[in-house]
Amino acid sequence: MCGTGEYTTGWVGTGASKSDKKIGVVGLTLFDLRRLGKVDKLGMVGVNGGKFPAIRKHLDENIGGAYKDMDLSFDEYPEQGKVDPEAYKTAIDKMSPGEAVIIFTPDSEHATVDNCASSIKQFKGTHHPIALYAIERGIHVLVTKPATQLLSHHNELIAAARKHNVCCFVEHHKRFDPVYSDAKARAQTLGEFNFFNAWMSQPKSQLETFRAWAGKDSDISYYLSSHHIDICCWILQDIAVPTRVVASAATGIATSEPYNCVPQTEDTITLLVDWQSTKSPKHKGTAVYTASWTAPLKAGVHSAQHWYYMGEKGDISVDQAHRGYDVTVDETGKTCMKYSPSESGHFDGQRGYGYISIEKFIDAARSVNAGVTKPADYDTHGLPTIANTVLTTAILNAGRISLDEKRAVGIKKDGETWVLE
Ligand SMILES: NC(=O)c1ccc[n+]([C@@H]2O[C@H](COP(=O)([O-])OP(=O)(O)OC[C@H]3O[C@@H](n4cnc5c(N)ncnc54)[C@H](O)[C@@H]3O)[C@@H](O)[C@H]2O)c1
Repeated sequence: MCGTGEYTTGWVGTGASKSDKKIGVVGLTLFDLRRLGKVDKLGMVGVNGGKFPAIRKHLDENIGGAYKDMDLSFDEYPEQGKVDPEAYKTAIDKMSPGEAVIIFTPDSEHATVDNCASSIKQFKGTHHPIALYAIERGIHVLVTKPATQLLSHHNELIAAARKHNVCCFVEHHKRFDPVYSDAKARAQTLGEFNFFNAWMSQPKSQLETFRAWAGKDSDISYYLSSHHIDICCWILQDIAVPTRVVASAATGIATSEPYNCVPQTEDTITLLVDWQSTKSPKHKGTAVYTASWTAPLKAGVHSAQHWYYMGEKGDISVDQAHRGYDVTVDETGKTCMKYSPSESGHFDGQRGYGYISIEKFIDAARSVNAGVTKPADYDTHGLPTIANTVLTTAILNAGRISLDEKRAVGIKKDGETWVLE
């Protein structure tokens, strides 16, 4: 496990996360998969080794104390007392080909790279260097969204995974949400694509937490729209391809009192994307992806998310925040995990889509290691492999360039590689 933060452990430095991931997802899932015999030795890599005593205490109390038969042992990097942003190298150097790394680090480093002649805002993520380092050593990789901020980095990971014959998946867990996968199946029966509209937002109070990197190292489109753009690309996989992106941004709230984010921070970003049918030259579609981190404080849900799909023969509406069965707790909001234990006192969240997403990756890595499948097989299964998610990164990267350069950005295939124009 690379990254020891909210999604991995639920520990956020000052205590347990107050979000819906108070005991994390990755660590809990892997401890449970070890109980079930699918993984063996575990390790965690952060930047500051000094955090591990608090993390272990948090896991002991909240996982060890909540579920039966959980072995919570893991190696830690860097060792206690040391601070080392490259400890992932030490950890990966100790691994053998066929083992696996799960990356949940920030998609940004807290430093904006201002070395472009045209002074285009260029983000420098941590996902790409860590994933590449592991892949080049024959290690399977699962990386969180957004896989990379630059399309060129995404293309490099596709090439490296092919060359080293490993599984590289992107952790787009919404693909395993039963509502979304059902919607994808239904969309396949609706003929040509015509229109997609997605909205995702978080209350502006979150900006207090995000201020360290908001606008500097990543934007709200990468952070939230990545989910719906991936779902849309997944639905349209054999139906249409994106050809052009124009972005527009609303500003002024994040940069004002009391949030005072850096001047270039956008509040709400909208990407307008043209899609071309792959079967019919005359059918074109339009998609609008909007994400905001300045939604009203008491909107009722932690993260509002809904989308609408219109095809030639029908339409689909999904409102994830208002489902038939829904539990929202004041403190924690909603979750992709079931945390309540089973009748026998064991962890019981194996059907949560946060869990399934990690288990599918572990199953793929084990199957490849056993010689039963090849990494390329998963590209044909609709799973979020690095190759199958390239258009998601292409659209997000094009959106960023469109905002910075105030122009439309084309997306096209150059031989086998997707590039921006
Ligand atoms: N929290 C969620 O609900 C959630 C859900 C899905 C995806 N994600 C994604 O997961 C990533 C991390 O999210 P989070 O909420 O866990 O963040 P976080 O800030 O709580 O944790 C990030 C962790 O990464 C570590 N880290 C930073 N640089 C590192 C490096 N060079 N080597 C090793 N570790 C390093 C930090 O020490 C920290 O432990 C983001 O890309 C986010 O978009 C988060």
